[in-house]
Amino acid sequence: MNFGCAKLIPSTSSIHWIDQLEKIVGKTHVIRPGADDFAKYEQDETEDLRFPPQAVVRPASADEIQKIVRLAQTEKLPIVPRGGGTGLSGGALAVKGGIVLSLERMNRILEIDKYNFFAIVQPGIITQQFQETVEAEGLFYPPDPASRGSCTIGGNVAENAGGPRALKYGVTKDYVYGLKAVLANGECVSFGGKLLKDVAGYNMTQLFVGSEGTLGIVTEITLKLIALPRLRRTLLAPFDDLHQAAAAVPAIMARGIMPCALEFMERDCLQAIENHIGKPVRFSKNAAVLLIEVNGNHESMLDAEIETIGEVLEEYDAVDCFIAESTAQQNEIWDIRRIAGEAVKSISLYKEEDTVVPRSRVPELVSGVHEICDRWGLRVICYGHAGDGNIHCNILKAGMTDKKWNEELPLAVEEIFKHTVSLGGSISGEHGIGYIQKRYLPLSLGEAEIELHRQLKHALDPQNLLNPDKILPN
Ligand code: LAC
Ligand code: ZN
Repeated sequence: MNFGCAKLIPSTSSIHWIDQLEKIVGKTHVIRPGADDFAKYEQDETEDLRFPPQAVVRPASADEIQKIVRLAQTEKLPIVPRGGGTGLSGGALAVKGGIVLSLERMNRILEIDKYNFFAIVQPGIITQQFQETVEAEGLFYPPDPASRGSCTIGGNVAENAGGPRALKYGVTKDYVYGLKAVLANGECVSFGGKLLKDVAGYNMTQLFVGSEGTLGIVTEITLKLIALPRLRRTLLAPFDDLHQAAAAVPAIMARGIMPCALEFMERDCLQAIENHIGKPVRFSKNAAVLLIEVNGNHESMLDAEIETIGEVLEEYDAVDCFIAESTAQQNEIWDIRRIAGEAVKSISLYKEEDTVVPRSRVPELVSGVHEICDRWGLRVICYGHAGDGNIHCNILKAGMTDKKWNEELPLAVEEIFKHTVSLGGSISGEHGIGYIQKRYLPLSLGEAEIELHRQLKHALDPQNLLNPDKILPN
């Protein structure tokens, strides 16, 4: 008589699921509520939001992840995959409780293939550490989110992270050529690989990029690398008129130059940084500054590009130009730029709108956002990746009543997003929809498009266990 497997294996159902997690990964890699390091897993970098999970688990392998997923399936527990916890849309928040699955122990570079220009990594590797390792080999992994010192490649894949160099080199998706993942049903899947060309089947690799941990848990990633450019030049150009600064951006590109980065910061942003770091910041009295970097392998070419950029800056009434003379000065400029988000956050709680438009529309975007915020009586600080059209608009709570924050602000944000979309833009360039922007998704996507998202989610995760309550509006 066939009793089925279940009868032959001793039942574990009487053991509490947290104890079962400990059996899978070892006691030290399960963190229970109340433990010393539990609090950090209740939040990411999004506003002041906190959602305690029921447990945190830190697996060391795809095999362990598979077992955790199967356990979660049986127990009907949500699983929230987590990278460095630097997200700005609440993607790593356990909004429905359950298990936070941190990939921090899966942090190895498995291979750097110098001949084929690919690397294979585990998701928990810190982005900057990966970049510095490949750069030591003369190779280059360009995507450089501001948090690259603490975010992970896995998190970057989940969010399809960008950064300043997206302008010339593209975002995370442009480098992900293969991945392995554990699906909600516990199956392990593998797509793509070290192949620049591969059209066998749907492009499933890209379906997972930017899916914010809602379709599967990525356990291994194959990344394309390029040759490391040897030289770069970095300059800062201040303007007395914000709109002239924004208008200079597409004008530089129209001269046939593709800078490696073309960043914009307005005065309030520079002053926030100055206050935050307690040191003077160049041009913090000017209305706005452009940070421009060009790179390549030939001095003469960079000289010519800098000269042309200088002509455009003059044409658009830049009032000065500071060209970094050493790597130390370049790093100093970038350190200042990368700390912008943290500096704004140090003023007060804020809501960040990650607007993106075609770059020629940036001047209208910035002036429109200011006009809307003035009308609603809101203080906004704008900065971001002007060259690729992605401007972060940070609305400060400072001094605002809770009533205004909760009731009026969403209406103002909706106006900002409607304005963004009217310029041919989208409601998030690089920070994702996550938990906090779900309600606005219908401004960027139509009903048919959202329904297709729902069908995909249902096909891959019918029990809605993987990072529930993210991306899709309720
Ligand atoms: C930046 C982050 C917030 O650009 O995306 O600084
Ligand atoms: Zn950014």
